[in-house]
Amino acid sequence: MNKEELKRKAAARALDEVRNGMKLGIGTGSTAKHFIELLGEKVRAGLDVVGVPTSEVTRADAERCGIRLTTLDAIDRLDLTVDGADEVDTRLDLIKGGGGALLREKIVAAASDRMIVIADESKWVDCLGKFPLPVEVIPFGLAATRRAIERACAQVGATGRLQLRDGKDGHAFVTDGGHWIIDAHLGRIPDAPRLASLLSDIPGVVEHGLFIGFASTVVLAGTEGIRTVERA
Ligand code: 5RP
Repeated sequence: MNKEELKRKAAARALDEVRNGMKLGIGTGSTAKHFIELLGEKVRAGLDVVGVPTSEVTRADAERCGIRLTTLDAIDRLDLTVDGADEVDTRLDLIKGGGGALLREKIVAAASDRMIVIADESKWVDCLGKFPLPVEVIPFGLAATRRAIERACAQVGATGRLQLRDGKDGHAFVTDGGHWIIDAHLGRIPDAPRLASLLSDIPGVVEHGLFIGFASTVVLAGTEGIRTVERA
């Protein structure tokens, strides 16, 4: 089974948790896209749900699949968010934002009663950090913010190259919120919860890709089958 088939299997398992009438957070990325397509099939067969997309790309995909959408201004809470991840550790903490949607993804996850993370088993790690950590920043004062990020990383014993993410046009990648992203190539983050709070304290940082305590369930699809890990 190839990686796309594994991602689709994880997405299908998450879909089992979706009930009629639910308000859903809808994630971003290639794994979430499988979920959107499968959800669309169910909607066309009569399932009644409403979704909040975590990016403009997801909005377009969901609309194409016939999924009714709303906003967090129009509704109070979400029952469930289904989203992918770049890394998941054994505490179910995550690195997200490889697709650049971390800010909306975190806002939506925080407004949800449950978050199911769907992934192929290659995303499961002992220690977060091999995947470069995305940090969404304000363009103003970039160099000062970068130095503050460096200091925060050093405080938890994580060092590495900080790289401004490029877009397809060769200029800085711009998020849906109009911000830029610094990818921190740290290799290993010894204390992710501490780094998360240090990064949140930096004025030029809008949000970072460490999702600490958000995931309730992780669905991992591997060649041996599907493994579901629940938060203890
Ligand atoms: C986007 C994300 C994605 O969930 C993450 O990058 C995983 O993507 P994929 O399913 O394509 O591996 O955080 O901002």
